Amino acid sequence: MRAVKFTGAGGPEVIEIVEVDRPEPAAGEVLIKVAAAGLNRADALQRRGHYPPQPGMSDIPGLEVSGTVVAYGPTPEKGAGRFASKQAQLPLGAEVCALLSGGGYADYVAVPAGQVLEVPEPVSLRAAASLPEVAATVYTNLFFDQRVRPGDRVLIHGGSGGIGSMAIQLLAALQCTVIVTVSSAEKAMYALNLGATHVINYQRQDFAEQVKIMTDGAGVDFILDVVGAKYLQRNVDSLAPFGTMVTIGLQSGARAELDMGSLLRKKLTLRGSTLRDRSLKQKRKIMSQVGANVWPLISEGYVNTYIDRTFDLEDAQAAHEYFDSGQHRGKVLLTMDH
Ligand SMILES: NC(=O)c1ccc[n+]([C@@H]2O[C@H](COP(=O)([O-])OP(=O)(O)OC[C@H]3O[C@@H](n4cnc5c(N)ncnc54)[C@H](OP(=O)(O)O)[C@@H]3O)[C@@H](O)[C@H]2O)c1
Repeated sequence: MRAVKFTGAGGPEVIEIVEVDRPEPAAGEVLIKVAAAGLNRADALQRRGHYPPQPGMSDIPGLEVSGTVVAYGPTPEKGAGRFASKQAQLPLGAEVCALLSGGGYADYVAVPAGQVLEVPEPVSLRAAASLPEVAATVYTNLFFDQRVRPGDRVLIHGGSGGIGSMAIQLLAALQCTVIVTVSSAEKAMYALNLGATHVINYQRQDFAEQVKIMTDGAGVDFILDVVGAKYLQRNVDSLAPFGTMVTIGLQSGARAELDMGSLLRKKLTLRGSTLRDRSLKQKRKIMSQVGANVWPLISEGYVNTYIDRTFDLEDAQAAHEYFDSGQHRGKVLLTMDH
């Protein structure tokens, strides 16, 4: 089968399409014939040599795919009943999407059955590749590890990215006040159309000052941060008493200085989180809750997926160049022409 490999650490030029053996599904896994794979910031980090796959996991990049179930691995010794019921839900030929630990930029991928969900109506098979990683990440950080409540005021950094687009829609469905940062008027319009209450152009405005104005000085209850070091102090300044911030990306770096006084006075919680290295058990639980809680919102029209551009697998280099340029709104996909 065809797959993407990185020939070293660097820019899109390290991307090569190679021929490799089709993976054999292990016990408890299903084999998916891939229709499309979603691009994620983590793939670009892995390409630059900063986010290697977990030991024992595929070194082919790609954390989410859609496709059809074409084979099952052997029945596992432990959890055989659960595997059998998953097989019944996902028969051969079923159209599915899956959260992966790697291996998605390829014609076929093997994945634990618990990380596979049916494609939700009315999403197309290809477009469904855009859902698993962002839905699982946003769900984990807003509702699984802690619980954002209806009506909360929430600040989302990067409102036009894959993660931001999903977060805005889930929070809008919960009738939260959603404040987002973006880098252009075009991206501001995009975020408002998704359901954001207020947008801040972080290139032109100090987001902490704007949050103060937009919340009448009260601050926000929750921040989903993908920026890291550069925003730490201003994020802490923007939180309301008893507020929580979860950092899931470090796009501006990992080292920062913080005046900890307000952390104590406001009784804040600062957390960090990664999805990729969670246990199979946690990923199974998260995907099961995503299926139960997010998929109905998609089917009822509260949440949509936004595909900015699709590229053929053979054009993976061009896809990464485009993704690196940061022009996209929503998701970028690779499609497999079998
Ligand atoms: N920890 C986890 O489990 C996990 C899982 C998935 C993703 N992530 C992280 O989540 C982030 C988003 O991932 P993605 O796949 O959605 O990537 P993406 O589509 O490329 O989105 C990146 C977003 O970051 C925004 N951004 C960059 N610098 C910013 C700044 N200084 N202020 C405000 N926003 C800024 C961009 O906004 P503009 O385009 O407007 O500049 C863009 O919306 C990445 O950092 C990724 O590593 C973490």
